[in-house]
Amino acid sequence: MKEYLDAAMEIAREAGAILREGFERPKQISYKGDVDLVTESDRRSEELVVARLQERFPEHGIVAEEGGGSVAAVAKYCWHVDPLDGTTNFAHGYPCFAVSIGLAEEGRPIAGAVFNPVQDELFSAARGEGAYLNGDRISVSRVEKLATSLVATGFPTHQRKKSANINYYWQFTLRSHGVRRDGAAALDLCSVACGRFDAFWEFGLKSWDTTAGIVIVEEAGGRVTDLEGKPYRLGGPSILATNGHVHTETLQLAVAIAEDAAKSNSQ
Ligand code: IPD
Ligand code: CA
Ligand code: CA
Repeated sequence: MKEYLDAAMEIAREAGAILREGFERPKQISYKGDVDLVTESDRRSEELVVARLQERFPEHGIVAEEGGGSVAAVAKYCWHVDPLDGTTNFAHGYPCFAVSIGLAEEGRPIAGAVFNPVQDELFSAARGEGAYLNGDRISVSRVEKLATSLVATGFPTHQRKKSANINYYWQFTLRSHGVRRDGAAALDLCSVACGRFDAFWEFGLKSWDTTAGIVIVEEAGGRVTDLEGKPYRLGGPSILATNGHVHTETLQLAVAIAEDAAKSNSQ
């Protein structure tokens, strides 16, 4: 396991340096969807991460957001790579983005690193071995109630008109200290892990957004399910990550919001 975690951490730092350098320069933006951006830095970071992982672990599968991976569906171990999480922030000069490298064993996240090169913050964790920020042990917050929680969410870039998340945003805003929408899901998960946020939910995230962050949250003492309370499946329709204490209350509110929406849709 140490070999995997060390690789994820080293490669995340190396790719982060590419992002940091690209952040200072004029950016060439192209579109994958109406508001789904991609830059040269996404591609350069991905090329580096994929090449390094292939050198070290030729028998492992790699799923990478920009398509540079080599999905070996039969591989027991599969890396899930977001070479630049927070591309919209990056493209607009908003300094909140990261590289996320997670390893799953038969679909279960077991190790990961998320590096924010602007803050120089490297989050890391391996199953059973704790979660760390720049080498210091981290843990989730002790907040017990949603009413005194700081919560986070994100909005999908694809099919955004179909997303019901604004209802959740509104209801959670009324019942908490506030809801942040920072635009980098991997960092949102790490913020739950180190106690900056008490809960985070989102719909439609992909395995590259969440694999590393899930291990980091769980190893920091937090809990991860979907928004119905079922075990979270990589690439599943929704995710809820909390400090554990506010999980049940958060789930109850999410379920109530979904029921209200279903009722009004059927009227
Ligand atoms: C996006 C970010 C954002 C989330 C979107 C993701 P990208 O990833 O994580 O916070 O709300 O759903 O797609 O495209 O910047 O890698
Ligand atoms: Ca992402
Ligand atoms: Ca990305």
